[in-house]
Amino acid sequence: MRMPFIAGNWKMFKTCKEAEKFAEEFKAIYEKDDVRVAICAPFTQLAVLKKAFEGTGIGLGAQNMHFADEGAYTGEISAAMLKEIGVDYCIIGHSERRQYFAETDETVNLKLKQAFANGIVPILCVGESLEQREAGKEYDVVRDQLFADLKDIKAEEARKLVIAYEPIWAIGTGKTATAEQADDMCGAIRDIVEEIYDTDVSCDVTIQYGGSVKPANAGEILNMPEIDGALVGGASLKAADFIEIVNF
Ligand code: 13P
Repeated sequence: MRMPFIAGNWKMFKTCKEAEKFAEEFKAIYEKDDVRVAICAPFTQLAVLKKAFEGTGIGLGAQNMHFADEGAYTGEISAAMLKEIGVDYCIIGHSERRQYFAETDETVNLKLKQAFANGIVPILCVGESLEQREAGKEYDVVRDQLFADLKDIKAEEARKLVIAYEPIWAIGTGKTATAEQADDMCGAIRDIVEEIYDTDVSCDVTIQYGGSVKPANAGEILNMPEIDGALVGGASLKAADFIEIVNF
């Protein structure tokens, strides 16, 4: 049975002081044990949050990592560095990284392998642009991404994967996919995973929806049968909003 998984993606927001303040506020109101929760924060805040979340069951995620073990890669962070400070998850292939930082399916694939090799659960982001949806290509785009991103990843690793379906046109725009659109694509993603692997793996994989999820629409989206959780951007920055989503 898959437990709902709600993760916050803070993107490039908050200083360490602000992260500590969020943690104090969130811990005071967080009491769920039937929902998996994590915050994916900028690198500088990870150690601060690790300490602040100790004993709460709240998971910790990064938003990117390099695919090499180590090396002359100025400005990059390795999986071992993240693991050392207790990071559980890493967002990989977010559309903002694909769009602004030249992330490709090839680098996403290498990063997924590196995350698994280091015991970090990847949150793999896939999703189509508005142009692609208007052309009726959303299914093909996501299918191509999944086949390329999961190339040569073994079933025993893939079953631990979290996939976030994030239509680019719904990110930070206030335009949410309808619950039906999100549910259709999450179901299609599970079918594609079944095609790549088998039914067992597709049943184990957690599939989130991301894109303008907020307290007002979280219940409708998260109660859809194919949607296992949410990757929340803007609305994860305020403890009062994020808890409403967690308590959907
Ligand atoms: P918003 O919730 O701000 O639209 O961001 C979604 C997202 O990109 C999460 O990764």
